[in-house]
Amino acid sequence: MASTITNGTEHPPAKPIQLSFPLPRSPHTRIHMHLTVLTTSILLFLTTTAADTSSSGSPMGSFVYAMPNRTSPTAQPLSTALYTQSQTLDFATRLAKILARRTGKPTYVGNSISFAGAGLGGTVEEEMEGMGKVVEVVLAEVGRASQQEDGT
Ligand SMILES: *[C@@H]1O[C@H](CO)[C@@H](O)[C@H](O)[C@H]1NC(C)=O
Repeated sequence: MASTITNGTEHPPAKPIQLSFPLPRSPHTRIHMHLTVLTTSILLFLTTTAADTSSSGSPMGSFVYAMPNRTSPTAQPLSTALYTQSQTLDFATRLAKILARRTGKPTYVGNSISFAGAGLGGTVEEEMEGMGKVVEVVLAEVGRASQQEDGT
């Protein structure tokens, strides 16, 4: 069924997955994900929309690359910030490292999430919950993608 491409690109071609979900405790703020699971890497873009969208236009955010440690899969992955914006960098870096370690794949994360519209204005707890939810969703999708690879 899957057409094999012989020039070394993905087979079957990886389709981006787009989904969104509300923040666990702030249903008016939604996280939007654009995820591409490749055989050799993961590409994830994240942003938020809030009920009150009149607030300042969303900035470009940060773009981070994290690489798992092949010799020691439990070790902290190395990360490189490819594009830096102070409000979004920490979240992008932590998330890229978690995903690289949990999936064993090099991971790119573009993040322009804002928790400012969250119930408590974006506390550490709200960020952690948001990140936990993103990790859960991404790992489920990566698991599904690898099952499809195994099954063909
Ligand atoms: C991978 O982890 C091992 C053990 O912690 C460490 O010695 C090594 O330097 C790490 N490699 C990289 C590329 O971080």
